[in-house]
Amino acid sequence: MTMALHDLLVLGRGSDLESERGVSCTGELPAASDPTLVERAKKARAFLGNRALVLGHHYQRDEVIAFADVTGDSFKLAQTAASSPTAEFIIFCGVHFMAESADILTSTAQKVILPDLAAGCSMADMATANQVDECWKVLESLGIAQATIPVTYMNSSAAIKSFTGKNGGTICTSSNAKRAMTWALEQGEKILFLPDQHLGRNTAVLSLGLSLEDCVLWNPWKPMGGLTEQEILNAKVILWRGHCSVHGRFSIDSVNEIRERIPGVKVLVHPECQYEVVSAADVVGSTEMIIKTIEAAPAGSKWAIGTELNLVSRLAKKHTDKTIVFLDKTVCYCSTMNRIDLPHLVWILESLANNHLANQIQVPEDVAKYSKLALERMLALP
Ligand code: 13P
Ligand code: SF4
Repeated sequence: MTMALHDLLVLGRGSDLESERGVSCTGELPAASDPTLVERAKKARAFLGNRALVLGHHYQRDEVIAFADVTGDSFKLAQTAASSPTAEFIIFCGVHFMAESADILTSTAQKVILPDLAAGCSMADMATANQVDECWKVLESLGIAQATIPVTYMNSSAAIKSFTGKNGGTICTSSNAKRAMTWALEQGEKILFLPDQHLGRNTAVLSLGLSLEDCVLWNPWKPMGGLTEQEILNAKVILWRGHCSVHGRFSIDSVNEIRERIPGVKVLVHPECQYEVVSAADVVGSTEMIIKTIEAAPAGSKWAIGTELNLVSRLAKKHTDKTIVFLDKTVCYCSTMNRIDLPHLVWILESLANNHLANQIQVPEDVAKYSKLALERMLALP
């Protein structure tokens, strides 16, 4: 063991290192141009062996996915974290809310690590704990909080998940939103859906058969959410005014344009896309479901995919017997997912191999308690 550790230190020193690059690297981050990065990552990964589990969300870069022990959508990765009690270090190659959820679902002996702490999610930032508390107070003052069940998308902070658990609600992901909302309507009369208006609306209307009029949009920047008392009282689903800027780019024009340009093309989109886009698509699903759909598609079929570009490019490279194109004309990565690159992964793996724990994601116990309840409700959904 000492030999291997020494080898790693030597390998680290021998390469071109920069110090203090990026907000999250308190140590040294290797240069992206270092030609030994892959070799270094392999060596450190092998040294850590079963002590580490590397989880990779489907939006990660190829260079990172190459080192993932498990790849998945946010539901599968949460499930994997929850069912891996022997991994001492869970290196989460994804974004902050995913790592927080993994920390909540694992034991205190396990350490969850996010290779770049700046890998956040702009949608998750669109609902703050104070804003949600204010909204809830309005529902209480109208006498409807008791009958309202919060359903919170995984893409949210641990504080919002905690609010959800405390108030009888559940977490959902893009792969189980229908089940979560169905469950919620069995528990109460209304849903407060946080923070992605599109997933909430698409699921309520296109999967559950509610009408657009059953949904109202709560604007956290306006008094009473910008709604009248009557609108709130009449609503079946109160949608939070949050969205994903990556999926928000796809428009109905993109769908029409691609159908014209590629006759016979099938449009496959993530449910974070706008209602008009999802309504016009042929297939809708989580990132894992998008992959499975393409895997099962016949050779020669044509697909325009509306989701993050790393995933679409990987599918196009892998399935050369099918035509796979990005739904939008302009390229668009999720900039925060993209922050995790090979230099960050090498830095984290080598830090751990050298007994230095960096970038641990730790949810405070009082927040974790109720967030865990909400996450467990999701994992137990029928
Ligand atoms: P999935 O759960 O489908 O992987 O989606 C996560 C996400 O952040 C999509 O933008
Ligand atoms: Fe968040 Fe959108 Fe990136 Fe998903 S794609 S992590 S929702 S910003």
